[in-house]
Amino acid sequence: MVTVRVLRSMKERGEKIASLTAYDASFATVLDEAGVEVILVGDSLGMVVQGRDSTIPVTVDDMVYHSRAVASGCKHAMLMVDMPFMSYSAIDRALVNAARLMQEGGAHVVKLEGTANQQEVVRHLEANGVPVCAHLGLRPQFVHKLGGYRVQGRDTKAARALIDDAQALEDAGADVLLLECVPSALAAEITARVSAPVIGIGAGRDCDGQVLVLYDMLGVTPGRRPRFAKDFLVDSGSVANAVASYIKAVKDRTFPTSEHTFQ
Ligand code: KIV
Repeated sequence: MVTVRVLRSMKERGEKIASLTAYDASFATVLDEAGVEVILVGDSLGMVVQGRDSTIPVTVDDMVYHSRAVASGCKHAMLMVDMPFMSYSAIDRALVNAARLMQEGGAHVVKLEGTANQQEVVRHLEANGVPVCAHLGLRPQFVHKLGGYRVQGRDTKAARALIDDAQALEDAGADVLLLECVPSALAAEITARVSAPVIGIGAGRDCDGQVLVLYDMLGVTPGRRPRFAKDFLVDSGSVANAVASYIKAVKDRTFPTSEHTFQ
């Protein structure tokens, strides 16, 4: 089974980590059998499954429901589950909700969107045996604070702040970092500075691994596909082949290309 130790040793060996989201048992089985290392039950389910216009309405009950379904198809991969909006706004609340995601949902690692402000929460979860992935850069739960879904860390001050946040969250004990929509050079610098594995989405090819929303990589997300995503189904003929070709492209570093990257 893939554990945080396995991800750390992959980083040390320079082997890329392949991750995709899933929200149900059938897709989880396809991903698991194809050899995806991390299956993420993302709160993106609010948008791609529930049809909401952001991830903000997603609840802990929603996450438990989908996580439990995914867990039943997940035999080998690490199961990472998002803590939804406001579910980790205080340390006691974070612990109660993380416990639900692990005990009822089967999560191996919980993911929360953070800056250095979440250090105390991360420390408290880790001290109680909850492995944490800290999601930095574009944090969709903060869309109204950030003023939209925008690339983060573009100017020198913002880049410096992101490096400091990543370091602070690693110091608090975060086992994995996830960087969304940051310039590739900045993502490369953060990846080189921290010992925790860094999984990127729209963060260039130098992160330790890549993640995509499953429906983006199958070309079924309604509307315009994000720049960092690629439709792997169009040339593959089946979902299983599309997932295999995504994993291969991540491992041999042919995805992402500059076309999927921000400068
Ligand atoms: O919710 C999600 O699917 C995510 C990915 C965008 C990484 O956090």
